[in-house]
Amino acid sequence: MNNSKISESIKLLSLFRENGVDEIIANTSSNRVKNTEKSTKKSLIQKNDTINRDNSMPNERIDKIKSIEELKSYMANFQGCELYKSSTNMVFSDGNPKSKIMLIGEAPGHDEDIQGKPFVGRSGKLLDKMLEAIELNREKVYIANIIPWRPPNNRRPTEEEIEICLPFIKKHIELINPKVLMLLGSTATFALLKNPEGITKVRGKWVDLILDNITIPTLPTFHPAFLLRQPAQKKHVWEDLKSLKKRVSK
Ligand code: URA
Repeated sequence: MNNSKISESIKLLSLFRENGVDEIIANTSSNRVKNTEKSTKKSLIQKNDTINRDNSMPNERIDKIKSIEELKSYMANFQGCELYKSSTNMVFSDGNPKSKIMLIGEAPGHDEDIQGKPFVGRSGKLLDKMLEAIELNREKVYIANIIPWRPPNNRRPTEEEIEICLPFIKKHIELINPKVLMLLGSTATFALLKNPEGITKVRGKWVDLILDNITIPTLPTFHPAFLLRQPAQKKHVWEDLKSLKKRVSK
C-alpha cells in the first residue's frame, strides 16, 4: 500500500470513529454450536487437533449443574456464542438469589458490559425507580438477562444467539426457583414464552412458564428502555408492578 492509500485509510477510520463506529462486527452472527460439529469432524481427521475450549452445546452438560456458582463458571468458560468475544464482561446477575421475585431482561448494554452487572445504565435507573414504587430494591429481587454478553452496538440479539443462550437462563430460573417471574420486554418474553402475539397483547397477563422441573407464574411487561422512549406507557407497567406485588404477598 502506498503512502497516499495509507493516509486515505487513516482518514476513513477516523471518520468512522468520529461517527461512533468503535467496533468491527460481522453482519451475521456465526453459530459456534453448529461450527463445533464441523470442527469435531475435522478433529477426527486431524488427530493432533485439540479442542480445549468448551463450545459444546450448553444443554449437553447443563443438566448436571447443581448450583448458581457452577452455572456462572460454566457460562464464563462457554464459547459457543460469539458475543463473548466482543464483550468486556459476562453479565450474570444482580440482586438477592433468595428472592421470591426474579426479573429477566434482554441483554447487557454498554454500561452493564463495563460493570459486569445487569441494568446499571439509564434503563436500570428507571428499573430501580419502578421497584422503589412497590417498595422493592435490588436486595429484594434477583435480576438476570436472556443473553449474558453485550451484543455489539446494542443491537438486538439474533434468534440464533437467543436459542444458544436459552438453556442458561432456563437453568438459572430453576436454580433460583422464584415464586414469580417478571419478563422485561419483548425479547425476554418471546424467548421464554414463544408467544405468537406481541408484547402489547401479552403484557399484564399472568402465564405459567413450564420448565423441566418447575412451573412459575410469569408476568410479561414493557422493558424500561421502551418506557424511556414512550413514557406514556408507564401507567401500564405501574399496573403490572402492583399485580406482581399482590401475587408475591399471596
Ligand atoms: N437492558 C437489558 O435488557 N438488560 C440490561 O442488563 C440492561 C439493559
